[in-house]
Amino acid sequence: MNAGLSRQRRLGHEHIPDGRDNEHATSDATTFRAFGSCGHLNFDAHLMTRPCISRLRAAVPVVLPSLLLCDFGNLEREVRRLEEAGVAALHLDVMDGNFVPNLTYGMPVVESLRRLTKLPLDVHLMIARPDRFAAAFRDAGSDILTFHIEAVPDAGPLLDQIRSLGMGAGLALNPATPLEAIRPYLRQCDLVLVMSVPAGFGGQGFQPVAVDKLRELRGAVTSDVLLEVDGGINQSTIGTCAKAGANLFVVGSAIFRSADYSAAIRALTQRASEN
Ligand code: DX5
Ligand code: ZN
Repeated sequence: MNAGLSRQRRLGHEHIPDGRDNEHATSDATTFRAFGSCGHLNFDAHLMTRPCISRLRAAVPVVLPSLLLCDFGNLEREVRRLEEAGVAALHLDVMDGNFVPNLTYGMPVVESLRRLTKLPLDVHLMIARPDRFAAAFRDAGSDILTFHIEAVPDAGPLLDQIRSLGMGAGLALNPATPLEAIRPYLRQCDLVLVMSVPAGFGGQGFQPVAVDKLRELRGAVTSDVLLEVDGGINQSTIGTCAKAGANLFVVGSAIFRSADYSAAIRALTQRASEN
């Protein structure tokens, strides 16, 4: 049995050899029916279409819960609550205590989440030398893999590698990093992640410098590039970001510190749609 097929069996997915979605592969999750299968399930590098990316594009504006602030003692319950709230994907924050002064989790937690849900996994690497782990995160089940421009001397090879592994390729920049740093790589990106707080912690205050970057990026990239904003996104900041061109909104505190995830996600999505 080839590695790709055996991995799909391990994850409980159907073999989808031609890179297209199988809309009828499962019936147990509304969100999976809506999104179909995702990039990591395709193992023929020449035929990869990164379906997660195109399906997220079709669903924008999308609010993505950042699991950083969830209850890790009840991960499965948290995932079910988010599925019931109709989220389109999960945002996973991987920190190494080196690139950022905080430490979270790595491949085993991503793999556990992969087994718990068919939702696309949007993995945000805040680690030094992310090139060491691209294949491992793909094997763990990541659909989109984003790393920081500040963590690499040249983002080009890793963006290419991520795509050739079948994942959507994302490039992130911190509030203090000028847009010029990522400009040479925009054509290799499926997603650009504009940080509106310095990477490392949930619950920080939104930095408006992100809005200018989003506006400028929206004019600089084609409409098929997803623009994601992350940090301090809530009812008062999401509208400005949407207006500036963001279409994916990562939210931690404003979901996980509310009693009703569904209501919070609905209200945020509504606010983003108004702009
Ligand atoms: C910060 C992380 C974010 C963060 C978002 O480094 O990338 O995803 O957890 O949390 P809030 O919404 O609380 O800023
Ligand atoms: Zn994040």
